[in-house]
Amino acid sequence: MADSEPAGHPDGERLQKVLARVGIGSRRICEDLIAEERVKVNGEIAELGRRVDPERDLVEVDGAPIGTRQGLVHYLLNKPAGVVTTASDPQGRPTVIDLLPAEPRVFPVGRLDLQTEGLLLLTNDGELANRIAHPSHGVDKEYLAEVVGTPSRAALRQLREGVELDDGITAPAAATLVEGSLVKLTIHEGRNRQVRRMLDAVGHPVTRLIRTRIGPITDRRLEPGAWRPLTAAELRSLEAAVGEAGRTQPGTTDPGR
Ligand code: URA
Repeated sequence: MADSEPAGHPDGERLQKVLARVGIGSRRICEDLIAEERVKVNGEIAELGRRVDPERDLVEVDGAPIGTRQGLVHYLLNKPAGVVTTASDPQGRPTVIDLLPAEPRVFPVGRLDLQTEGLLLLTNDGELANRIAHPSHGVDKEYLAEVVGTPSRAALRQLREGVELDDGITAPAAATLVEGSLVKLTIHEGRNRQVRRMLDAVGHPVTRLIRTRIGPITDRRLEPGAWRPLTAAELRSLEAAVGEAGRTQPGTTDPGR
């Protein structure tokens, strides 16, 4: 047996203790998982007793990352077209949940239409999900839309100033023409089919829609259908973007933005 410490952060916590703390199982079960080589740290099979920093190291059990907070996981998925944003579909179509590890169970934060592609967050962190989805917290979402025709300056201005939809006028959006028929639209409301309806209303129906950013979170290299856990830094930036305002803390009031 080696008498030196296994590799890792010298002042981190022992791996089996971290696994037990986030609810993987008892300390004994976690030790067995490590001995069975089912636990990886930063992509490499981990040794018993290794020290880790759960905020910085990627720890996986059977290929599924453990959360950085007590049992919480946060995934970023690049949703392909033709996949529904629900947990189960009565029509039997593939769902975003089918693309992720079965355990722990996660749910999507907001939704993308069947044919919309791009970034979607999935988590079991209900509190953060509520804060992201709530329009008052101002997490903006950026979309690239391929449309019919080339929007005029007047059409772009209308998108920026607000478009009259059947459920009311939209809040001002950022709208730019990237080229020809490609529009970049950034909104922070989350109404049903909002981007498609806005572009329809200004005379440019959408032929392809991709979400490219959620607040501070973006990833151009994530392939369609692929997912990854948010890094601790991304999670912190997302929490900073939604602010502390939505946290349920008795005796505090929403300071607004
Ligand atoms: N707006 C839409 O129209 N569709 C989406 O999927 C997301 C935003």
